Amino acid sequence: MLICCCFFPAIEIPCAAYVSQSGTPRVEWKFEKGSSIVLFYYDSKFTDPYQDRATYTPTGIRFTSVTRKDTGKYICEVLWTGSGGSGQLRKSEVDLIVQVPPSKPIAKVPTSVTIGNKAVLTCMETDGSPPPTFQWYRDNVLMPPNPKISEKFRNSSYTIDTKTGVLTIEPVTSFDTGDYFCEAQNNIGTAQKSEAVHLEATEVNVGGIVAAVVVLLIVLALVAFGIWFAYSRGFFSSKY
Ligand SMILES: *[C@@H]1O[C@H](CO)[C@@H](O)[C@H](O)[C@H]1NC(C)=O
Repeated sequence: MLICCCFFPAIEIPCAAYVSQSGTPRVEWKFEKGSSIVLFYYDSKFTDPYQDRATYTPTGIRFTSVTRKDTGKYICEVLWTGSGGSGQLRKSEVDLIVQVPPSKPIAKVPTSVTIGNKAVLTCMETDGSPPPTFQWYRDNVLMPPNPKISEKFRNSSYTIDTKTGVLTIEPVTSFDTGDYFCEAQNNIGTAQKSEAVHLEATEVNVGGIVAAVVVLLIVLALVAFGIWFAYSRGFFSSKY
């Protein structure tokens, strides 16, 4: 188990399986994360995404920088071959946990939503390791997971996915108008808040629809008048 490293993102991952003997060692490194295993060092070479940021030494590999994607298990396999080599495969593992506090998240909030529609608000943060969980605030008040048991939010209908940071308000009512911001937190360093964005729940725009219909009728009347005018001046009649 090796934990690293917000402020000094360089790290060396030791290979305990490497015990010097005579002969020629063949060393391979694998990275295991969830169900995927990637062979990233073999034939004395790193594979592509690693060669720019990792260096090899017999006793371990050194990363110049790591991110949360590098959290996982590192397996080193050493096989001594040739004269004097034991011919025996030795293996060692290191669990790397990269710890990075969240950076300031970005809240995507629709600025205007028609009452009765659905509003989807998202919160984005990509640095924190382990990945942060998310909370939402409206007008500086923390939004509880269940609005119905809250005095302040019981007129709202929403769900919050704390893992993805998605806040879904459905249906939007006039009570949902307010300033929204989200917060990302992973227990490393301090929680980070996004900028607040104002969401306005708007009535169906009846005035706008009426105005559009009136404009359309005026345009149609002008076109009809133009055609009548052209006819009356004989523009369409045959000149022969
Ligand atoms: C919720 O709705 C009721 C009825 O319209 C209203 O009296 C009350 O003030 C609302 N509560 C909040 C917190 O807005």
